[in-house]
Amino acid sequence: MCSIIGYSGKLISAAPLLVESLKKMEYRGYDSVGIATLNDGNILVSKGVGKVAEVDKEMDLNKLPGQIGIGHTRWATHGSVNDKNAHPHYSCSSNIAVVHNGIIENYQELKTELTRDGHTFKSQTDSEVIAHLLEKCYQESDSNVKETMMKTCQALKGSFAFVAIFENGIIAGARFDEPLIVGISDSALFLSSDVLGFLKYTDKSVFLDNGDIVIIDHNTYRIFDLNKRIVARPITQVAWELGSTEKGKYAHHTIKEIHEQSLTLLKPFQEFNDFQNFCEFIRDASNVYITGSGTSYNCGLLGKQLLSKFAKIKTEVIMSSEFQYYSDSLEPNSVVIAISQSGETADVLHSVKKAKENGAKILSIVNVPTSSLARMSDSILTLNCGPEIGVAATKSFMGQLMLIYKIVNILSSGQMPFDKFNQRNLLMMVKKVLNSDGIIQNLVSSLDTNIKDIYILGRSIHYPIALEGSLKIKELAYIHAEGIAAGELKHGPLALIDKESVVVVLNPTDETYQDVISSSNEIKSRGAYIIGISNKKNEVYDRFVELPDVDSYLYPILEIIPLQLMSYYLALKKQVDPDYPRNLAKSVTVK
Ligand code: G6P
Repeated sequence: MCSIIGYSGKLISAAPLLVESLKKMEYRGYDSVGIATLNDGNILVSKGVGKVAEVDKEMDLNKLPGQIGIGHTRWATHGSVNDKNAHPHYSCSSNIAVVHNGIIENYQELKTELTRDGHTFKSQTDSEVIAHLLEKCYQESDSNVKETMMKTCQALKGSFAFVAIFENGIIAGARFDEPLIVGISDSALFLSSDVLGFLKYTDKSVFLDNGDIVIIDHNTYRIFDLNKRIVARPITQVAWELGSTEKGKYAHHTIKEIHEQSLTLLKPFQEFNDFQNFCEFIRDASNVYITGSGTSYNCGLLGKQLLSKFAKIKTEVIMSSEFQYYSDSLEPNSVVIAISQSGETADVLHSVKKAKENGAKILSIVNVPTSSLARMSDSILTLNCGPEIGVAATKSFMGQLMLIYKIVNILSSGQMPFDKFNQRNLLMMVKKVLNSDGIIQNLVSSLDTNIKDIYILGRSIHYPIALEGSLKIKELAYIHAEGIAAGELKHGPLALIDKESVVVVLNPTDETYQDVISSSNEIKSRGAYIIGISNKKNEVYDRFVELPDVDSYLYPILEIIPLQLMSYYLALKKQVDPDYPRNLAKSVTVK
């Protein structure tokens, strides 16, 4: 979602650095771009709608002069997508400009008050109130930036992070439930919503806490709490995130990340992951909840099935956007396992916050160990799969599955084998399935370009994969896709099946095999086109994607790969960008 970058330094001039940083954070999703720099005591703003490269080309963003600046990519929440609503926003006298992420809940009342005081608003955004409020407080405090920031933050309600540039060369930021990180190098200081914003220059970071206000005065920074007290925050090194964010030999990040799964599969199994400690919390709990959004939620659904089947542990999986309606009734001694690639998804953070308030212990499964979610947790496990740039989650889902399998292995006291030997064998099988890339590409090219609906059927542990596969198709190829528990077909969805339907069946030879074959026959007799994903061929399939033989509980790990590849090639067939699907953001940091 929106990205923020602030820079004060001597490395290079601000504008090209800001543009480059915004490009690095493009994967988060956005619709417009803007930067502001300080030149001879004047704040210059340039902004517009479109991709960073397009707006840069059109407006020459990178030519704005100055060594200090702020930049932003906007994902519209308040006010339509247009140049005026793009950030940065000026105060009336242009002595301050602001970029903002999140939502200012009381912006209407603040806007009314400020308008009454004579301020003129140019945009429809909630963000612009910050610029005018800062201007008012700056005037009242005799140009004292610290006082200005304190007073402004005290007046704002909501979840937000913002960075402001002042005419006197100071940049200041505030973090209230949205990420904001300080990057520290010898000759420059940065403020960003994502470490990727400054990683090219430094891996030394300070992760601000909620309620922190940071003031960067040229080459020094100070952090304050809302009571104006200086606070000390540790400097962390974010080494793993230095991993490549380039596409290498691949056309898109998404296909690169799908193939990278063979490299990242075993990355979670390193010393920094204390599985025993994590599992101890689950063992000690009276009730276990799992929560997450999108792909991470689908991983939770598989976790529930495996925990029940092998470890006899009952869990409740609640999607994070719905969790708030349950959290008041959490029983004492509950544990919440929160799954999130980014660790910044607003719905997840909100769920966890409420669960914590109600006394639950928080366990998290994240890719970013320094994320807000990780910092709120009693115990964390990390995927360690490197930055995932494609908006649709692929290699992070694989990493989440690996962690879930290990947890089940431990909690089932080995009833579900998943030791080093199984893992290495699995790695070979994953590589085999990835080699079916050409087969899938060919399969997709044979499908009608105007497919309207794709259904994916699976029973038991294959059902969460059917859901995840359909999510991938929706996200990447903009085709209506639905994951269906095969046994439910007769209870409604069969009415939708006709000659135009494409149905994928997940059908390895386990206890679900025969029932899924029966469903496939019912569908076939209604004229649908059937793609079978299985280790065993059957004549009911029009097309067959072969999986290698593995222990039956491992099939979900293999069968998601053809679905990821299918989604990617469907996106190419429809000539849409698989890396940045329309209307979607990688990290949804607003509710
Ligand atoms: C967004 C992304 C999805 C992702 C979901 C959860 O909706 O578009 O691909 O699955 O967020 O993200 P998280 O970082 O919490 O796993």
